[in-house]
Amino acid sequence: SPSDASLRAQREQGCPFSSAVNAKGCPASEMAAQFDPFEGPYLVDPAEALRWSRDQLPVFYSPKLGYWVVSRYDDIKAVFRDPILFSPKNVLEKITPPTKEAVEVLRGYDYAMDRTMVNEDEPAHMARRRALIDHFLPERLERQQEMVRQLTRERIDAFIDSGRVELIDAMLYEVPLLVALHFLGVPEDEIATLRTFSLAHSVNTWGKPTPEQQVQVAHDVGRFWQYAGEVIEKMRAETAGDGWMHYTIRKNAEMPEIVTDSYVHSMMMAIIVAAHETTSLASANMFKTLLSHRSAWEDICADPSLIPNAVEECLRYAGSIVAWRRQTTGPATVGGVDLPEGAKLLIVQASGNQDERHFENADRFDIYRDNAVDHLTFGYGAHQCMGKNIGRMEMRIFLEEMTRRLPHLRLAEQEFSYMPSTSFRGPDRLWVEWDPALNPERDDHALAEKVRHFPVGAPAAKEIARSVRVSALRQEAEGVIGVTLEDARGRPLPDWSAGAHIELCLGDVERKYSLCGRPGNGRYEIAILREDAGRGGSRHFHEHLREGGELRLRGPSNFFRLDEAAPHHVLIAGGIGITPIIAMADRLKAIGADYEVHYCGRSRRAMALRERLQADHGSSGCVHLHIGNETGRADFAQIVAELPEDGRIYACGPDRMISDLEAQTADLPDGSFHFEHFTAQNVALDPDKEWAFEVELVDSGLNLSVAADETLLDALRNAGVDVPSDCCEGLCGSCEVTVLQGGVDHRDKVLTRSERTENRRMMSCCSRAKNGQRIKLA
Ligand code: FES
Repeated sequence: SPSDASLRAQREQGCPFSSAVNAKGCPASEMAAQFDPFEGPYLVDPAEALRWSRDQLPVFYSPKLGYWVVSRYDDIKAVFRDPILFSPKNVLEKITPPTKEAVEVLRGYDYAMDRTMVNEDEPAHMARRRALIDHFLPERLERQQEMVRQLTRERIDAFIDSGRVELIDAMLYEVPLLVALHFLGVPEDEIATLRTFSLAHSVNTWGKPTPEQQVQVAHDVGRFWQYAGEVIEKMRAETAGDGWMHYTIRKNAEMPEIVTDSYVHSMMMAIIVAAHETTSLASANMFKTLLSHRSAWEDICADPSLIPNAVEECLRYAGSIVAWRRQTTGPATVGGVDLPEGAKLLIVQASGNQDERHFENADRFDIYRDNAVDHLTFGYGAHQCMGKNIGRMEMRIFLEEMTRRLPHLRLAEQEFSYMPSTSFRGPDRLWVEWDPALNPERDDHALAEKVRHFPVGAPAAKEIARSVRVSALRQEAEGVIGVTLEDARGRPLPDWSAGAHIELCLGDVERKYSLCGRPGNGRYEIAILREDAGRGGSRHFHEHLREGGELRLRGPSNFFRLDEAAPHHVLIAGGIGITPIIAMADRLKAIGADYEVHYCGRSRRAMALRERLQADHGSSGCVHLHIGNETGRADFAQIVAELPEDGRIYACGPDRMISDLEAQTADLPDGSFHFEHFTAQNVALDPDKEWAFEVELVDSGLNLSVAADETLLDALRNAGVDVPSDCCEGLCGSCEVTVLQGGVDHRDKVLTRSERTENRRMMSCCSRAKNGQRIKLA
């Protein structure tokens, strides 16, 4: 491998590698040679500028920058996951080397910026993080919501009647700065100066100042350093002061070997920038993105419950942190490319956030996206942004207040400019306008007070629902209604895959139904069997659905996916279980796959979609009807016995049928039998029968206790760890966490037998540690 010295030497001369260095080809292609993070396409849209890299060369060496650039989601996450091999020590290094004059100027101010939370190696980093994390926990942050709301309202009150405003100056810069100062307990007396200082720190660290600018920037950074020192001295005198920096200063007195003097001074300077610049830029990106995707803006105005997920989608699609840095501490391999010790990495989260391998239709902005929260804008693992929930809270409140009070807001005509930076992104100016005569609060004086509260933390998938209209309702079979749903505002509904389901919400009732129409036509078809002995959901829909009526819909999601490559598929439906099965049959027919369908029902009249099944699939002889009052019950033993090697069985139907098939397929190879449950059994916790247990989170360095009356998912969320979830019943697999050690009592319906035995994955919404054992998770 080339040494660091040879890398440096050859950086001046062009490509440092011959193809012999890396058998997979030269990592510095012509595109790599042109890559420049300070100008052109990267400044305007970093994800788009690196599309070629995600597709062709996901890890490449940039001779202009002297860094290895990493562009795919999984590779970026893998780098974040290992802070030992990929050290954060270069995070605050000046990416543009300082001139001699600038170094002299900084020396004159005794500038000694050193280790902070973002650029500290282990074990010092985790020891400090643990000592200082309490203030960032969701329950502590709940208390800050009122202050954020108050500051936001004051700013909006000041401009609401003007009709035109530059939103960054008017609100998006100062509110996050005041929130940050309040959270830190730092006096608010130098706001204008802090703005200059903070800009200088950003340019100094991540920008490309000219030699002349470097001197001016160095003076501002030097003054910022001294200002930070003076503030600390003042704060030390107020021993009972409130806020995170006061707390840090007290910890410095209690445990000086962990929370050191140098750390306190460096952190004071870094946190003032980190705590507000990122939120300010992210909020500007959010308004720009939403106002240029008008239908999303209007959906939020109509339904504010969409706000938390819209914020996550904005952070994914146009986050304020576009790239971060790491340095290898030994030879490493990223995305199949071998890197030498000391290699510097620019990991471009903005590119990973639009990686098709992780996000479907990744370059489409979609506030209904159910995995938007997986974005990498906050980083991941041990160094994940501690203030992420403060940023989220502010962005939600900005959006909630503005969509409620100024739904007619629009972007003004303007050219956008961006400060050259490898890592931070947001427009310099954001002009918006509206007609004040149309301000809704002129007619509805109470509107300004109609606040919507969002709990602190990542949004739950439950909050993501769109409005749909019933466009057709028909009798599908005895006791079964067929329902066609369209988007309430006439747009095509998203595409779906065979086996997918949606969740319908009408009043307080929410139920999941499989899609059984034709994908790709922008409408959804479902069939609902009235079950009078059930929990009342189907009866509610039978009684209350009306043609033209509106309701809410979540999804589609798919927990019941076809393995299309299998040589043969046996599809078994019991009663209303035909809905996902007919969609699977349609798909298998469309791709020319080999399949047979067994449809079991008590009588011909009660079997929904029977005629369509026979019309569309019957001619090839692959449809077998097992009708209780005519042909008798299906012989599952026989069906299973005739399954060809590597064949797959997919079944959906009543519990008794599924249990019967489970027993019949017990000796088949793992992965041969797939089934869909609509409800889980016994998900409620009985604290008298449960064990409490301890969990160690290796990637983030946390230790948690899970109480007997609490799920692992809840404990993770309470500790500020983002884990997606959907069903919370062990059915969907979205809350999966990686198990590194310890016995697990698996209670989900997702994992196969061999996956349980392997013990590498668990569903945090329902599964627990065995007998109160301690478990280690990634
Ligand atoms: Fe669906 Fe846990 S949230 S399995």
